[in-house]
Amino acid sequence: MLKRLLASLPILVFVSMSQTTPPPASPAQLKAWFPPEQLMTIGVYYYPEAWPESQWERDIANIKKFGFEYIHVAEFAWSFMEPEEGHFEFGWLDKTVALAAKYGLKVILCTPSATPPAWLARKHPEILMINAQGTRMNHGSREQADWSSLVYRDYVEKIDERMAERYGANPTVWGWQLDNELSHYGQGMSYAPDSQTKFREWLREKYGAIDRLNDDWGAAFWSQRYNDFSQVEMPNQTELIAGVNPHAMLDLHRWFAHEAAAYLRFQAGVLRRHVKNQWITTNFMMNYELIDPALSQNDLDILSFTMYPVSGGLFRGNLGFRMGDPAHVSFTHDYLRNLGSGIEGPMELQPGQVNWAPVNPLPQPGVVHAWISRAFALGGRFVCVYRYRQPAYGDELYHKTMVEPDGVTLAPGGKEFVESIEDVRKLRSLYTPHAMPPQDYEARRTALLIDWDSRWDMENHRQTTRWNTTGHWLKYYRAIKSLGAPVDVITDAKDFGKYPFVVSPARQLVDKDFIGRLTKYAENGGTLVLTCRTGQKDRRGHIWETLWAEPIYDLIGSAIPRYDVLPPGRDGKVTAFGKEYAWGVWADLLEPRPGTEVLARYADQFYKGTAAATGHKVGKGHVIYIGVDSEDGQLEADLLHSVYQSAGAKPASYPLNLMIDWRDGFWAATNFTDTDQPVPAAPNATFVSGGRTIPAGGVAIWR
Ligand code: GAL
Repeated sequence: MLKRLLASLPILVFVSMSQTTPPPASPAQLKAWFPPEQLMTIGVYYYPEAWPESQWERDIANIKKFGFEYIHVAEFAWSFMEPEEGHFEFGWLDKTVALAAKYGLKVILCTPSATPPAWLARKHPEILMINAQGTRMNHGSREQADWSSLVYRDYVEKIDERMAERYGANPTVWGWQLDNELSHYGQGMSYAPDSQTKFREWLREKYGAIDRLNDDWGAAFWSQRYNDFSQVEMPNQTELIAGVNPHAMLDLHRWFAHEAAAYLRFQAGVLRRHVKNQWITTNFMMNYELIDPALSQNDLDILSFTMYPVSGGLFRGNLGFRMGDPAHVSFTHDYLRNLGSGIEGPMELQPGQVNWAPVNPLPQPGVVHAWISRAFALGGRFVCVYRYRQPAYGDELYHKTMVEPDGVTLAPGGKEFVESIEDVRKLRSLYTPHAMPPQDYEARRTALLIDWDSRWDMENHRQTTRWNTTGHWLKYYRAIKSLGAPVDVITDAKDFGKYPFVVSPARQLVDKDFIGRLTKYAENGGTLVLTCRTGQKDRRGHIWETLWAEPIYDLIGSAIPRYDVLPPGRDGKVTAFGKEYAWGVWADLLEPRPGTEVLARYADQFYKGTAAATGHKVGKGHVIYIGVDSEDGQLEADLLHSVYQSAGAKPASYPLNLMIDWRDGFWAATNFTDTDQPVPAAPNATFVSGGRTIPAGGVAIWR
């Protein structure tokens, strides 16, 4: 009751939470958990509750024998740990942890909040989420609880506290994962009553007075004005006759991400009451739809994500569907590494076919090894395989695992894990501390400056069904990697002044201050690349009362009087470097000012000859504006190549999807193209893995 009263006083709750949650780990603690000389550590998910106790020791002994260094357990085991309300049974978990200790394995424990037991859902159906259509989710799957529910939080607090009391000082327990892929999967957000209340509270705190909300939400449009916060509900397109208010949607996204982070902070706070020398993380999903890991960077000691590159997407080329998108995977490492402590890695990686995609093809032989090597190349400190044994029953029985259904024979992906474990052993033996990155490589270091609000706003209001914000980000990411450049994916909360190159794709929402920061960056000698859909709106999502996107005209040296988009199936042409490229998604039509150079022009449509990309000098630096979004990303790669070359950064010319990075004294190349690729190793290079030519889905690591 007291908790509920407090929850109606948002400011008080905020203050008390920030007081009870100690800051994340110190550098010394992080170093002890993840010694730099160990480079990367590989582990595996194991579900003892699903197998006869007589097999646990055999399985754990084999896990050790294969070279794994930790197991991940208990994430969905609430009904085993608390089979009846208030009745706790940890004997089975004690035995598992003891077996891990016996075989020298560390343990990651997981809070079970993704799978509340049946007794809880039946006793308190109000904890269940309600989707946009108004359907209440039911017991029988996972992530069905509304994490805004105060009743649910009470129960989560109890089980988390019991676990932390029992294992928080156990030396075998290395760390904790909160929940699992916090989300409601395809069901989106919960519209249950506690979510509605919390959304309103958040708005009240943000705006103070209802008229400020009315202004920001543009509520004069269609008479949407509110008299009081109590009238506001979560905007829900399925209940609306016509289009949803885009400004309300932007706030809904901001609130939902904030609320998810608050929930993680709450669980971390409960564990920290008892956890002594163990880290805390959660495993974010890589699709970045609704949750922003940056909001949890000060609550979690390390960051992790789940990685399923082959999951039914065609991606590109002949073999993309068997290898996944290396840009997507790499982008996630480069984002998480730049948050919080900087320690990150995939907490789940598929070792073979999954069961949940529309089609579940076999991965390309070698590609599991390549994904693990990519994690290494980008600074990943751990990789955990999902999962050890193939379930004989349940929704995921088609999911391939480390071992075959017999529980002992290594599956093909399992063999690739073992191969990677062998790589790590060799890398450790060759490790030299404080290796300095090659100067040429560092001289190309690029900040990919992304903005979640812009993404949410553009996804709410795409203006063409062909628009895909993350697809656009990844197009640039892929192009930058083809230059052999290291990338830091950051937001404008970070200082980008030190980077030689900043690429800020589709930065729709800006303010004068941000434009000032970009201008200063270029004036000081930086090379800034901006792309289509930039500068059109203020941070509320309102269009500027100026010419279209005029606040960025001085910065980019061009006006943008119009833009075009083409219907699906219809492409336009653009020329640059004497070549023709196809586009269809977005085209800003640029009007360069005197002195601004034209880098690409539209080659057809009624505006043939109009500038599609421009560049000009600003102070000691340059600002490039690429107003067109090409179909295959080659135009972006070619433009960036010429921009980096002009800036004296000696870019490489790797084919798109051959990715090569340097880490701790080693080069690692992963080939996600369709054909064999040579790697640029020096004649006297020593290879840890692979050789001078790598096949599709292959790896080479050398120094
Ligand atoms: C992940 C999830 C795991 C498991 C896996 C199967 O998204 O976090 O719990 O379901 O998919 O591929």
